[in-house]
Amino acid sequence: MSHVTQTFQSSGSGVTVQEDAAILIFGASGDLTARKLIPALFTLWREGFLSKQTPVIGVARRDKTTESFRNEMHEAVSKHVRGNKLSDEEWNQFSSQIHYSKLDITNTEQYEKFNEEVIQLENQFGVSGKRIVYLATSPALFLPTVQAMHEAGLIPDKDSDELLRVVFEKPFGHDLDSARELSKGLFRVLREDQIYRIDHYLGKETVQNILLFRFGNAIFEPLLNRNHVEHIQVTVAESQGIERGRGGYYDQSGALRDVLQNHVLQLLCLMAMDPPSLFQAENIRDEKLKVLQVLTPGHPSKINEWAVPGQFTESKIKGETVPGYRQEERVNPESLRETYVAMKVFVDNWRWAGVPFYLRTGKRLPERVTEIAIRFKLPPLHLFTTVECEGDICDLVGAQPNELIFRIQPNESISLSFSTKRPGMQYQIHPVTMDFCYGSAFEQGLPEAYERLLLDVLRGDSTLFTRSDELEAAWKFVTPVLDYWENSNIKPEYYPAGSWGPEASDQLLAKQGHHWRIPEL
Ligand code: BG6
Repeated sequence: MSHVTQTFQSSGSGVTVQEDAAILIFGASGDLTARKLIPALFTLWREGFLSKQTPVIGVARRDKTTESFRNEMHEAVSKHVRGNKLSDEEWNQFSSQIHYSKLDITNTEQYEKFNEEVIQLENQFGVSGKRIVYLATSPALFLPTVQAMHEAGLIPDKDSDELLRVVFEKPFGHDLDSARELSKGLFRVLREDQIYRIDHYLGKETVQNILLFRFGNAIFEPLLNRNHVEHIQVTVAESQGIERGRGGYYDQSGALRDVLQNHVLQLLCLMAMDPPSLFQAENIRDEKLKVLQVLTPGHPSKINEWAVPGQFTESKIKGETVPGYRQEERVNPESLRETYVAMKVFVDNWRWAGVPFYLRTGKRLPERVTEIAIRFKLPPLHLFTTVECEGDICDLVGAQPNELIFRIQPNESISLSFSTKRPGMQYQIHPVTMDFCYGSAFEQGLPEAYERLLLDVLRGDSTLFTRSDELEAAWKFVTPVLDYWENSNIKPEYYPAGSWGPEASDQLLAKQGHHWRIPEL
């Protein structure tokens, strides 16, 4: 049951439910707060989802006043807000809810004063006993902060019925053991239903639409199984290298931990899971967990036959030289860290047995594009093969396999390709596509992932957050690969920046007669 007070307000498009609770953001001086969290809260407020009773309290170590914090956030929201430009009037109204509290979270002596400030603000806004804590901090601070808040009385006892939800930004651990340790530590003071682990991919509109498309239509779902599907590809490609200031983190992490363990596996789960019997958080998360539990890689001693690490090297992109990974700021010049990973895995259940799922993610690939591509089997007979010539070169052309593509970003869309008869006196095959594009089908822009996720925390809906058993199952799957690469000093395969990854990843598919799709933008 949600403890959040809900008031109903009529908005232009129907009924909007307003949510209130105090929101404490730890790590308020960080990039995430300025770029994503405060702009998302502002949009929720602008669209009528956030009530006037919701104080937003930025918490960080730096010396700042509420006024200077508001000024910084004003600049950030002006720059990052979605939709209409921010007006002074809007900002003056919204910013009266923003406050700043200075706290060194590692210094337990400072909590008493901090506690008083928070309680005073909560009383002033009329939301005492309703608190949301957002930990946008380094993961090393998760446990000490939660522990210190508990000791200071800011996190009530586990059996209290006061509203408390704590949101964590990834990474949640760096392997199976550390993820388990973290969960164990958190469970000392928090219940599972109070923990919200963010995977921002689940907040993307197009990712949520995978479930609606699959289970809200009757015609596609009967095809999504081993009888009709040849293979599935999940691609999360990024064109950027290592963002400024992230080299240190990334060099400890790499593509497998940073993106595959979470975003790619979540996409795979949504694509492969069975329909939940109810569209509710626990039912949906149960079904995703079942997928993770039967993910079967190849034999552990043959990891290099189903998992390929890659690292980008210096190259020219559009005439400009871009540095290789080892030349990036704060990266070890001899680093073996992978900036790319490709895998061939199977979901070993009745629906998917024998269907390869090819997963890949990487930095410095030619485009920023995320998509799921489902390639169907060919018709059993080649009735329409024709000879087509261009000049002197002739080819035998037959039906192409149908493809269903979920384009998560950019140019968000769903498209289905099929063969048609080219007009004329012969049966000549011509491939065409049916497209649904968000941009042309809907007038309103797509909400930002953090808008949806923050609203769900306020509503107490944990559907789009990762449960501890899901997290553990994902780590259980990737940890043997990480251990093998690290313990055996496996060198990543090099690929030039701006290419689609190392050659070895093509061979992964070629063995099966498959090849990676080149996404068309
Ligand atoms: C983050 C990773 O979780 O996801 C980043 O830490 C990555 O390295 C980012 O760039 C990709 O997210 P998006 O939404 O830009 O595809």
